[in-house]
Amino acid sequence: MIRAALLLLAGCAASAAPAPSGVPASPSTSPEAGLAILRGADCAVCHAIPDVEAPARTASCVGCHAWVKAVAQSPKARAVAMSVFPKWERYERTVRSYAEVPDLGAAAARLDPAWWGSYLRDPHDLRPMMDETMVRVGLDATQLAAVTAWAGSRLVPVPPTPAPDRANLARGEALFASKGCVACHTFGARSVGPGIAAAPDLRHARDRMSDDGVVAWIVDPTAVSPQATMPALGVTREEAIALRDWIVLAEPGGSRPPAPAALPVVTRPVAYAEVEEKVFGKICIHCHMDPEQNEGRAGPGNAGGFGWPATGIELQNVASLRKHGPAILDALLRRRDEAVRDVVHPGEAPASTVEFPAIRPEKPGMPLGLPPIPDADIALVRAWYAQGAPGSGEPGSGEPE
Ligand code: HEC
Ligand code: HEC
Ligand code: HEC
Ligand code: HEC
Repeated sequence: MIRAALLLLAGCAASAAPAPSGVPASPSTSPEAGLAILRGADCAVCHAIPDVEAPARTASCVGCHAWVKAVAQSPKARAVAMSVFPKWERYERTVRSYAEVPDLGAAAARLDPAWWGSYLRDPHDLRPMMDETMVRVGLDATQLAAVTAWAGSRLVPVPPTPAPDRANLARGEALFASKGCVACHTFGARSVGPGIAAAPDLRHARDRMSDDGVVAWIVDPTAVSPQATMPALGVTREEAIALRDWIVLAEPGGSRPPAPAALPVVTRPVAYAEVEEKVFGKICIHCHMDPEQNEGRAGPGNAGGFGWPATGIELQNVASLRKHGPAILDALLRRRDEAVRDVVHPGEAPASTVEFPAIRPEKPGMPLGLPPIPDADIALVRAWYAQGAPGSGEPGSGEPE
């Protein structure tokens, strides 16, 4: 059913260009080489990036999901969509991810270029109210250096400020509440919300911005980057310095997320339809498509993307699910480990205090960058494989009929 859904969406597009793939093996670490890598690694399927054209809707995770939401808001467009797509109402209900991915123009304007390098080598959760995290990317040291050079070329110079001073801590904390920062931002366990998805946990600011940069941003974000979504809040420079001192010096606190417990055991028979509905069709096929069922589109998990080479793994047919069974279970369990640092809830300890087997730059866990599959559903997948991965016999399921 999802197969038909995606096929219809692709078929409706004016030009269903195949997704670009392949990153230049960077010969230099110039900003221009960095820009070529951002293009080649398909970063723009999720992020708005200066000087990179947004991909066509049929190739853009953010663009197509936003389009579904926009059509749902317009009675006229909705009526057309319902006549073209039999499952339109379901799309409106299911599409939720990638609604608010950060703009890389605003990021490059304010964030330390060296931080870009360390984050892309080892991404971790920055926004506790956002379910999605940054995907792990398959870029080598030279390619990352080029991306860092690109970010550095866009860093906006800001005026110098006095060094952070502990004498300002109490005043900064009071301003954080009185100026309304608390409505959007969390700060470790010290201020847990309400918070909005797009706003980073301010505990990370000290790692990723200069002291001067934090002040300039608080005074007027749009003066630093026209792409900023944070509004200027009428904060004086002197107040901004006190806020900055609290943000970069106060102890954010937080308890360490627990290590995952053992998976539950499922002994009842598990049918293909159940794992398809809860795991493979719901999440995995959106990146691991069978090109024959999607007008040639295979998705980044099959054809390669985000700097990773093609795997040839489609997860839309039972035959392919059987063939890749052990790798699939391993990948689900890796993501579960990674989540200890990649999916942090307000008040939990930051990634950097978690020791783990979770950094595996060479093999990321699945579903890449999305929250891990719930334990009960991983247990179902494991039981389905243990029972010999029985197929449904439906056309398109890969079952020999
Ligand atoms: C599948 C979607 C997706 C793709 C593809 C993707 N990202 Fe991201 N990226 C995200 C999400 C979601 C976040 C926000 C994570 C968070 O706040 O915890 C993010 C965050 C970032 C940030 C931090 C920005 C900030 O304001 O905090 C940088 C830098 C970044 N990505 C760079 C890249 C680069 C470079 C690429 C391509 C190699 C890329 N991303 C590809 C989804 C994606
Ligand atoms: C051509 C439009 C289109 C594109 C492009 C697209 N999606 Fe989707 N996506 C959908 C629709 C429609 C659904 C709902 C499918 C259903 O209910 O059968 C969906 C559902 C999903 C879901 C499950 C629901 C949710 O939002 O969490 C995930 C995960 C997902 N897509 C990820 C991606 C990723 C990652 C990309 C980019 C690599 C992408 N999608 C590109 C249209 C699209
Ligand atoms: C309406 C929501 C909103 C309010 C209110 C708000 N911010 Fe922000 N802030 C954001 C968003 C969203 C970002 C991420 C960058 C962007 O998209 O503009 C951000 C980014 C930041 C950053 C950069 C941190 C980083 O790690 O990238 C700092 C520092 C910051 N805000 C401080 C403050 C302070 C101090 C206040 C109160 C004076 C405040 N913010 C009020 C939404 C808000
Ligand atoms: C956002 C896109 C995305 C989603 C969603 C996704 N994948 Fe992947 N997958 C990728 C990319 C990119 C690679 C290549 C990375 C690599 O080479 O390890 C990959 C590689 C794999 C591999 C081969 C790597 C290995 O560990 O041997 C397996 C198996 C896999 N994915 C399974 C899954 C399963 C199961 C799901 C659903 C729970 C899933 N994927 C969801 C993008 C995705």
